Amino acid sequence: MTILVTGCAGFIGSNFVHTWLASSKEMVVNLDKLTYAGNLANLDDLKDDKRHVFVHGDIGNRDLVAELLTQYQPRAVLNFAAESHVDRSIHGPGEFIQTNVLGTFNLLESVRAYWTKLPESNRDVNQQSFRFLHVSTDEVYGTLSATDAPFKETNPYEPNSPYSASKAASDHLVRAWHHTYGLPVLTTNCSNNYGPYHFPEKLIPLVILNALAGKPLPIYGDGQQVRDWLYVEDHCRAIARVLEAGKVGECYNIGGWNEKANLDVVHTLCAILDELQPRADGRAYAEQITYVKDRPGHDRRYAMDASKMEQELGWRPRETFDTGIRKTVQWYLANQSWVEGVTSGAYRQWLDKHYGA
Ligand code: NAD
Ligand code: DAU
Repeated sequence: MTILVTGCAGFIGSNFVHTWLASSKEMVVNLDKLTYAGNLANLDDLKDDKRHVFVHGDIGNRDLVAELLTQYQPRAVLNFAAESHVDRSIHGPGEFIQTNVLGTFNLLESVRAYWTKLPESNRDVNQQSFRFLHVSTDEVYGTLSATDAPFKETNPYEPNSPYSASKAASDHLVRAWHHTYGLPVLTTNCSNNYGPYHFPEKLIPLVILNALAGKPLPIYGDGQQVRDWLYVEDHCRAIARVLEAGKVGECYNIGGWNEKANLDVVHTLCAILDELQPRADGRAYAEQITYVKDRPGHDRRYAMDASKMEQELGWRPRETFDTGIRKTVQWYLANQSWVEGVTSGAYRQWLDKHYGA
């Protein structure tokens, strides 16, 4: 048995491959374009593992995807591939429309052509038959006030950034391919992840690495924006559970019940670093906190109501924020060569050399 997963050289996808292969013999075919966010070093330990096959390519390349589907006959396709950084979507939304909207559209069409030709027994939605699982975000629901209830699956979509609008569009396409063509789809919407292999353009890894490098820790606006943090491995386990037991056509909200203001997250990181790797001058890392101009259209608060996942699928996060964030800091301290590869741009040079990109 095989699954085809896209975007697994990135942060969550690479964690998913590790989590998946830790408990399954099933082969993973990993299709990734290796954008700036894709990093094969995230999968270094699987170099000699025959259960992981890496394919360099774009989800929007219908010929390539058709070839892979014919060759590997996967029992499921999971779509992690996306442009994922809100700030980049503000500076240049084009890539987000290209991959998140058009890429998902092309992938859906390739998968539909494959699924249509499967034997009838493999197309029955009530059996353990073919599935297309689309990985999405809580940001499609827009923003909450301090007193609003957390997002449920029934909340309307109200995206506010080019990134979240492009993800919302992709979710709508996935839904439509189910209702119109009968494609057996599942959609997961998750809150902010953190953990190993997180590219240091995002808040938590950026703060850890900037702190250690003696650089400013940039806080957008007043730092009181709230995110609901989930340890990445818990997200990966939730996706595997939805693939296994989710109801076709349904959406599942995934979150950590861990609402934290950005400033509190940064203070927590500084305190852990003060303990594990104190500054040479004995001063506190928190002294490096610097307030900077706010992100345009910055959503004030996200929070997920994950009770459907808990009640229908029996999933619950294993990590608390305290255990997960400590593990994360320890991982960055222990993986200096990964950090150097990412920050020096050495892995991009390797890609150019190897793939001629
Ligand atoms: P990431 O930016 O770290 O990784 C994205 C991966 O997709 C990279 O390996 C990149 O090379 C690949 N990719 C980009 N465009 C591609 C294309 N056209 N074809 C093939 N591969 C392509 O992102 P991430 O944080 O790992 O997020 C993965 C998914 O989870 C995304 O769909 C994102 O919207 C969603 N998500 C992320 C979070 C989070 O907190 N990071 C939370 C909820 C949902
Ligand atoms: O909510 C899920 C989403 O979480 C995912 O869909 C996105 O792919 C992922 O990137 C993440 O989006 P955010 O915008 O919430 O993550 P980011 O790490 O960029 O920012 C987290 C918060 O920290 C946000 O309120 C902006 C703020 N921030 C971020 C950076 C990079 C700062 O204050 N300073 C910074 O330098």
